[in-house]
Amino acid sequence: MPGLPFKKAVVATICLATFAYSAPAGTLVASAPSSTPTAPYASENPNGMLWTEQEDITPEPIRGTLGATILGPQNVPMDLQNADLLAPPSTDSGTVGNAKWPFSLSHNRLQTGGWARQQNVQVMPLATEMAGVNMRLEAGALRELHWHKTAEWAYVLKGSMNIATMNFNGESFYDTVNPGDLWYFPPGVPHVLQATADLAEGAEFLLVFDDGDFSEDSTFSLTDWLSHVPKDVLARNFQTTVDAFDRIPGKELYIFPSTPLPKASSPQGNAALPYTFKASQMPVTPLSGGTVKIVDSTIFNVSTTIAMAEVTVEPGAMR
Ligand SMILES: *[C@@H]1O[C@H](CO)[C@@H](O)[C@H](O)[C@H]1NC(C)=O
Repeated sequence: MPGLPFKKAVVATICLATFAYSAPAGTLVASAPSSTPTAPYASENPNGMLWTEQEDITPEPIRGTLGATILGPQNVPMDLQNADLLAPPSTDSGTVGNAKWPFSLSHNRLQTGGWARQQNVQVMPLATEMAGVNMRLEAGALRELHWHKTAEWAYVLKGSMNIATMNFNGESFYDTVNPGDLWYFPPGVPHVLQATADLAEGAEFLLVFDDGDFSEDSTFSLTDWLSHVPKDVLARNFQTTVDAFDRIPGKELYIFPSTPLPKASSPQGNAALPYTFKASQMPVTPLSGGTVKIVDSTIFNVSTTIAMAEVTVEPGAMR
């Protein structure tokens, strides 16, 4: 790219010129105005957050001389959690979209055996390239065999999970993952998830999909397929009789209870590249103020569209 260094140089020059124009007296740039800046200096107010959610106060939309009390109804717990929305720092321009979504506001899908709630672009318009699902399975419960056109990355929060998949080469893969471990399924690869009985209450995990338009309600599940194919076709496809399908569910099951399976290995042998990564066993990189673990496709090869930085930040420290 022969043009690039030149462009960089141009950008640097423009920055310098802009800076010189508003520089205060005493600058070494000869052409700078000697006294009045072109704009007032930024406020000396450090503009910190005015309260934390632990405080026992009624928060008000007041910062310095700006704002006024709330006269109408007020959701105090939410206002306590969102100090910089109710009383923003004066440095805010106010045009940036909402950058967080609490799962507490997500509609939850309750099933026998667990639940799932999601965040996607419909509830958080800024997040066009990723969607999230928080899922809970009781011990032995299954998220049935299903497919979707986005990739699926996961982080185990609690308990442990058996996961199984089969890739486009027909190679199967079966593994057990624990808290802090990851899995990743490329787009279109069928997979099934089951909570183990390692914890009596089962497991919970966070799923991330590489498209903000993803919806957990639009995945393609095995029982959904079975219930929408004529039994005559099913029978011929599986080379059996129609009555073999007398007791299939009439609609998608999605999540359902089952018996925890023992840990097992894939009968066909595992795929060459693993679809799980034991991030819980990886050493952290210590930093002043916290730690980090980075897992990208250089060490978790199948995970080509999502990488993780698991960051811990000590109280008061800053990322
Ligand atoms: C995983 O990716 C790294 C970096 O691209 C490469 O050096 C390594 O050989 C890959 N591992 C496998 C098993 O393919």
